[in-house]
Amino acid sequence: RVLVLDFGSQFAQLIARRVREQHVYCEIVRHSITAERVRELAPLGLIFSGGPASVYAEGAPQCDPELFELGIPILGICYGMQLACHVLGGKVESFPSREYGRAEWHIDKADPLFEDVAPVSQAWMSHGDQVANIADDFEQLASTSDCKFAAVKHRTRPLYGLQFHPEVTHTIEGSKLLGNFLRNICGTTGTWQLGDFATETIAQIRQSVGSDRVICGLSGGVDSSVVAALLAEAIGPQLSCILVDNGLLRLDEEKAVIEEFSKHFQTDLHVVKAEEQFLAALAGVTDPQEKRRRIGHTFIDCFAGEAKRISGAKYLAQGTLYPDVIESGASRDGPADTIKLHHNVGGLPEELGFELVEPLRDLFKDEVRRLGLQLGLPEEIVWRHPFPGPGLAVRCLGEVTQERLNTLRAADAIVVGEIKAAGLYRATSQAFAVLLPVQSVGVMGDSRTYDDALAVRCVNTDDFMTADWSHLPYDLLSRISTRVINEVKGVNRVVYDISSKPPATIEWE
Ligand code: XMP
Repeated sequence: RVLVLDFGSQFAQLIARRVREQHVYCEIVRHSITAERVRELAPLGLIFSGGPASVYAEGAPQCDPELFELGIPILGICYGMQLACHVLGGKVESFPSREYGRAEWHIDKADPLFEDVAPVSQAWMSHGDQVANIADDFEQLASTSDCKFAAVKHRTRPLYGLQFHPEVTHTIEGSKLLGNFLRNICGTTGTWQLGDFATETIAQIRQSVGSDRVICGLSGGVDSSVVAALLAEAIGPQLSCILVDNGLLRLDEEKAVIEEFSKHFQTDLHVVKAEEQFLAALAGVTDPQEKRRRIGHTFIDCFAGEAKRISGAKYLAQGTLYPDVIESGASRDGPADTIKLHHNVGGLPEELGFELVEPLRDLFKDEVRRLGLQLGLPEEIVWRHPFPGPGLAVRCLGEVTQERLNTLRAADAIVVGEIKAAGLYRATSQAFAVLLPVQSVGVMGDSRTYDDALAVRCVNTDDFMTADWSHLPYDLLSRISTRVINEVKGVNRVVYDISSKPPATIEWE
């Protein structure tokens, strides 16, 4: 295995994922891990992530200096490189020309790290500080026009540093560089499979849960289904699932979930009908965060009420994924900045008094999907686009009423249905309708209308942390628009959202 030391980077998990893509098992650990513990774990390599700090800043994350003495290959990325160079006698400086975004880098010296790597290519830079001087024990390997030490290596130890980020897709030769480090420098064989993750996780669940009962909230989405499948496999008869029908689901979704669920799992399923309760809680509310808060509370009430009826439950399983964790700033040591608080990562567990089981906490969505297929879940579940916990409430801008929800549901079914019919559902990451609290003038037949506008949102993304709007064919957009306006009462205008994330988010609220 390989260990990624997290220095507070948004990218630590991305590094881990790239390593796993090379079929090398990888875990993320705190930057403060001791050399003694590393020796026990006996990894084949260490990767130091980037981080937002400057090595000279007070409280800047450090590492045990003895790590450099272990003889285990180390790759320092960005902050990780600066730290290694600084600790071993080099000098780091804040440069006036901070580099952000794409840069061209050149290989200056051949090295096993650069096997089959193009001599000049594009890299992704994101740094204020950089290494200004290296100690005599180091040599310079590559550069950009603004950065002399874009890649360095130690002359006698298996220690490398990269100022740019090989883990992001904008660094064209990034995965080759990581692959070369893993194979040529660490000597990994690349035989690890995601299936090993399932086996290990199932064993871990069995061990930590023992003979206690586990409750699992089921939404019908990929994440909770994969969690349920893992648990069903691990502790089958000790599992009880709860589906809260909040009235904020898509057209016929609840029915489909129950059908799929009973086909694939032989566990205890409790359906809580709570539509009225949710609508009452949302009456008159237009502020997005307030909607989330009220939905969160109502969900807890419904869920807790049902959970009380299940005797002997000690654990609560949740489908929290890594992007939820990092976007809430809950990354292990907490140095990552908070971006946005998702309600499913907030208060739920503590208030319920359960211990948490979060087996997908380290995974990205595409890894969860592959895991789902391995566990035998059907493609309809595995490839379903993600759907937010607060459901249609955050896609029904303005006040949420039964009538507006019905309008939105009908329009959403047309949007998704047409995208499926065009064979583009799998090619897009998330597609949905948003009902706007905006009326505009239209003309239908001979009469003037003054109805709602509907936005169509469709994005492509690998990890939901950044996304681009999908370049859907015009004739498809045109079919969607015509059908929505003709078939959905109360909508007379359809607009297509062409904003990327960032700066926009995927959802409108
Ligand atoms: P944003 O809108 O933040 O969405 O770009 C990123 C991904 O997260 C989903 N999302 C949520 N999921 N509770 C959830 O469970 C939420 O409150 C929530 N808000 C957004 C969103 O659908 C997208 O897949």
